[in-house]
Amino acid sequence: MAVTRTATVYWLLLVAALLPRIADSSEAEAEAADSRGRTLRCAASPNDSRCLKPSTDHSMLQVNYRGGLSSTLVQQVQKADCCSGCPGKPFCSPQSQNCYLSKNKDYYRSCSGAGDGGLAPAPPPGDGGLAPAPAQGGGFAECCAACAGGFCSPISKNCYTARAKDYYEKCSGVDDAVELGEMVWSDEFDDVTGSGRVNSSNWRYNNGDNPNNQELQYYTDKPDNSHLQDGVLKITAKCENYKDKWSYTSARLVTKDLADWGPGHRVHVRAKLPTGRGTWPAIWMLPSHDAYGGWPNSGEIDIVETVGCTSGKVYGTVHTGAYNHMKNTQKGSHYFTDFSEWHNYTIDWLDSHMKWYVDGQLYHTFAPDTGSSDRWPFSQKFYLILNVAVGGSWGGFCLSGGPSCSQENEFGTDQTMQVDFVRIHKLIPKIEG
Ligand SMILES: *[C@@H]1O[C@H](CO)[C@@H](O)[C@H](O)[C@H]1NC(C)=O
Ligand SMILES: *[C@@H]1O[C@H](CO)[C@@H](O)[C@H](O)[C@H]1NC(C)=O
Ligand SMILES: *[C@@H]1O[C@H](CO)[C@@H](O)[C@H](O)[C@H]1NC(C)=O
Repeated sequence: MAVTRTATVYWLLLVAALLPRIADSSEAEAEAADSRGRTLRCAASPNDSRCLKPSTDHSMLQVNYRGGLSSTLVQQVQKADCCSGCPGKPFCSPQSQNCYLSKNKDYYRSCSGAGDGGLAPAPPPGDGGLAPAPAQGGGFAECCAACAGGFCSPISKNCYTARAKDYYEKCSGVDDAVELGEMVWSDEFDDVTGSGRVNSSNWRYNNGDNPNNQELQYYTDKPDNSHLQDGVLKITAKCENYKDKWSYTSARLVTKDLADWGPGHRVHVRAKLPTGRGTWPAIWMLPSHDAYGGWPNSGEIDIVETVGCTSGKVYGTVHTGAYNHMKNTQKGSHYFTDFSEWHNYTIDWLDSHMKWYVDGQLYHTFAPDTGSSDRWPFSQKFYLILNVAVGGSWGGFCLSGGPSCSQENEFGTDQTMQVDFVRIHKLIPKIEG
């Protein structure tokens, strides 16, 4: 839920604006120019409000960046960015941002790098060997495409004949690195009592103002901001004058002091996320106790986050003392999918690494090379958070001011995150790390 991507997107846009030729260079170069640009500019003007400044707040950063970027520019950059979320898939639709195995529409962008203006990353060597979407635990397509069987490191993309590290992917057959154990906690959001209210043994509310990230919502426990209906939890952010001071209300539910989990678990959530500009829904985790000090030292796990300002892109990230956006070292990745549809968002959390999946497709692995707490504070217990933020430094980056209360693609429509279930299973490692 922290604000790293604000700056990333901002600089990507800035680079795109200043250097139109970047559109002719590869995705990798645009990313490199982005990070170089940010480093150089922030070093040159450290007091510029756009250079991220940490607050002492527990969970998030304050950023004084105010948006005002043209939507045309946003769209241009989204198109340029299309292929970066399609590892192992040769085509991307610049309109939907979806990845495809074949060019069903003539406007799909070829992500193979040839004859497409060069926007795409280099093709996986020995292409044609694109694997089908793997079962949970796989990730063959993105990592294993270049490996002839054996194993692949999802971090370096190198191929290996043996699984020297427990997070390597197995490139043929069923991945046997973990076994799903018993379910230790769940909420199916079935309204057993008929009250429409969440089970208070599982969830409590973080009501009130959130001073972080310049978010605009006031969180309440009112039924119109969160309720159970049709077997799902609905968290709704909406325009509403509240206490004469706020213009938007929403809800933030947490399992804090009720339930928490540490390594050796799979967190599996099925959700459908709002798309309105100005929305910033998140399914994420914070530490139950600040064992290593205040944020980000004790860690943050973002299982999935999206912003309505960027369509079709979901993010999974961790923040730690050593890896966070103050240093531009946060460890995250993104995946292109239509998040307005139902998808499974899953993390597998083991003793020394964590993996992120959308519908069983691996798209991010975090495996620091030491277990020191500045890199791996995830030996502790974390609680779960479900919320929809409004606006703010990242959620509102494509808007100037708050989202409109009359435009349909902003808050002319109430913006609802639906959660079908949260299931937490034990995860039994089968491979020695
Ligand atoms: C940034 O602000 C600090 C504190 O106000 C000041 O000491 C420092 O000289 C400023 N640096 C630059 C490069 O302006
Ligand atoms: C509420 O949650 C608790 C703990 O998970 C569970 O024991 C109880 O059966 C739930 N109540 C309802 C009405 O679902
Ligand atoms: C989503 O998760 C559920 C429950 O584990 C599973 O039955 C379903 O097949 C999953 N769907 C996808 C598309 O992965």
